[in-house]
Amino acid sequence: MEYVDLYLVHWPMSVKPTKPHYPMRREDIVPMNLRGVWQAMEECHRLGLSKMIGVSNFTTKKLQELLTIAKIPPAVNQVELNPVWQQKKLMEFCKEKGIHVTAYQPLGGQHRTSTINPVMHSDVLKEIAEAKEKSVAQISLRWVYEQGASMVTTSTKPERLKENTEIFDWQLTEEDRLKISEIPQHKRVSVLSILCPDGVSGVVDLSEVDVVEV
Ligand SMILES: NC(=O)c1ccc[n+]([C@@H]2O[C@H](COP(=O)([O-])OP(=O)(O)OC[C@H]3O[C@@H](n4cnc5c(N)ncnc54)[C@H](OP(=O)(O)O)[C@@H]3O)[C@@H](O)[C@H]2O)c1
Repeated sequence: MEYVDLYLVHWPMSVKPTKPHYPMRREDIVPMNLRGVWQAMEECHRLGLSKMIGVSNFTTKKLQELLTIAKIPPAVNQVELNPVWQQKKLMEFCKEKGIHVTAYQPLGGQHRTSTINPVMHSDVLKEIAEAKEKSVAQISLRWVYEQGASMVTTSTKPERLKENTEIFDWQLTEEDRLKISEIPQHKRVSVLSILCPDGVSGVVDLSEVDVVEV
């Protein structure tokens, strides 16, 4: 490839330049030089290596900080977004600043262990899906789409991939939207979830990098 269409800063945090390690070790986290990182991203754009540059997992606070530094504002903020984690404040902020939001885990994410997926098991979404003869996945994806966001979702099953694209020729009603807006909120991805359970972080306030706004 000579260029990518979109290049994102994955998290507003930095790790020591060690061999990639996931989950990350807390002792490898170092304070982020946001100005330096963003200038390097802007350079990628100027060199034509990336058509657009953006961020992921940035809070409104982190975006505000970035906007004071940026010569080229981020085109995209990719964040956890679904009916169970609606991010209303962040969505409003991004809209006001012209930053496009992409939803990750729009179906509540992959649950390989016994944990219950609150999106796929939502009674509200099930009820709407039954009334509309759609699947719960389609209701969730349609809701994301109606927020003006794009989405990255995955399936290992061809029939589900097809089902997930069939959301563009119908819409939710006002009543559906109201019911969805009242779903109790539950955030799945946190910065702690990408760290090893052991180790200590003495250098960075982790609450600073987490997306905690409802
Ligand atoms: N920027 C970030 O920090 C960040 C963080 C997390 C994830 N992501 C990205 O977000 C994308 C999506 O993440 P994700 O796959 O974890 O979450 P997701 O798209 O919300 O969930 C995918 C899960 O839903 C199931 N599924 C898909 N379609 C379905 C349907 N129609 N009915 C029932 N189940 C269905 C899939 O199972 P089957 O395979 O069995 O169909 C899979 O287990 C990925 O590209 C990931 O890399 C980004």
